[in-house]
Amino acid sequence: MNNFIFENTTKVYFGQGGVKEYLESLLANYGSNVLLAYGGGSIKRNGVYAEVTDILHRAGKNVVEFSGIMSNPTYAKVQEGAKLAKENHVDLILAVGGGSVSDCCKVVSAQAMLGEDLWEFEYAKHDRPSKFIPLGTIVTVFGTGSEMNNGAVITHEDKKIKGALWGAQADFAFLDPNYSMSVPFKQVISGAFDTLSHAMETYFGKPDENNLSDDINEAVMRSTIRNIRVLLTDHNNYAARSELAWASAMAENSILKIGKVTDFQCHMLEHQLGAYTNCNHGAGLAVLHPVLYRHICEANTARFARFAVNVWGIDPEGKTEVELAHAGVEALAAFIKEIGLPTTFAELGIPADTDFAAIAKSTVRTGGCCKELTDDELLEILNECR
Ligand code: NZQ
Ligand code: ZN
Repeated sequence: MNNFIFENTTKVYFGQGGVKEYLESLLANYGSNVLLAYGGGSIKRNGVYAEVTDILHRAGKNVVEFSGIMSNPTYAKVQEGAKLAKENHVDLILAVGGGSVSDCCKVVSAQAMLGEDLWEFEYAKHDRPSKFIPLGTIVTVFGTGSEMNNGAVITHEDKKIKGALWGAQADFAFLDPNYSMSVPFKQVISGAFDTLSHAMETYFGKPDENNLSDDINEAVMRSTIRNIRVLLTDHNNYAARSELAWASAMAENSILKIGKVTDFQCHMLEHQLGAYTNCNHGAGLAVLHPVLYRHICEANTARFARFAVNVWGIDPEGKTEVELAHAGVEALAAFIKEIGLPTTFAELGIPADTDFAAIAKSTVRTGGCCKELTDDELLEILNECR
């Protein structure tokens, strides 16, 4: 095991009824002005908005609303939120939604306290913010795991970059699986696939010898696969929804990353695909993953063979390591089909005249798990996805 320092400062309230039971007493720890942030309105239709605003008013808070946070949140939206937060002397940001609302609010929290442009501060000065408006999260759709880390993914429309920004880590996060029951089923599955992707991007990082993080990771991957399958025939199964909710947090709360350097090349490519097409994150990953893995699996057959056996339960008997490595990738591809996610850009609805060369060129190239990809290879992968 490599050396590491580990801390996760988000207090998690997991399970049904948590908001009703604990939110009001938690609010006593913060000042009176609360920025209530949410997306396009799903929380108004499923009753979460009414429940939360009722608690906020009972707690005597002045509520300022920051609504309309879109999927794949933009930097312009961040600026709108930061302005609202500053003008209203906000003491707490309460993010109610999925990864998009959570990410936007993490960055609003930092931008509102910084006297300069956060994007330039992080990307040009290579600095990180250190002052934040306190943040709390109520998760309504699972998959990104955004609620237990301080990373945010924001689309800078002028620069045509969907990039990572460091923002606030939430003080507290409510994970109530029941809140996800109203999420369109396609989104439930694409979110769950995002979880699997985070686990894989970590599993295929470095080093690849035996370590506890990888053993835990295999359990998270198997659990995610098993519980997605339960939902296919029983959409609202609470036990499966709750397992997936915790797997989502587990895949991105740094526990699986302990002692490892992660890969995340597939994510970097998907993010740029998102910058150019605004596609759904989990669905974009579903198209890219098998194609990307076919390109790299022969560069580390031992690790991909272990994935085949320990995650997909493939019998190694009579197979070479190379055959096993490919069998693992094909099991992943078959699973993506089985759960109804797109397998090509055409199915994902990406226009054929998209500038794939520009996407490849603007993609951040990571160290790679077993093979560092070039711009040309990234373009080849994109073309094979069409
Ligand atoms: O906007 P509303 O009306 O709320 O509708 C949302 C949205 O349309 C809907 N929804 C959410 N909760 C619902 C619901 N509909 C009905 N009932 C509910 N209870 O679901 C749709 C998708 O929401 P969104 O937040 O966009 O999805 P997700 O959680 O997948 O977040 C995606 C964003 O997170 C980033 C992605 O790149 C993308 O921008 N990521 C963030 C990460 C992080 N910070 O750690 C890691 C990930 O790799 C990812 O990149
Ligand atoms: Zn992701």
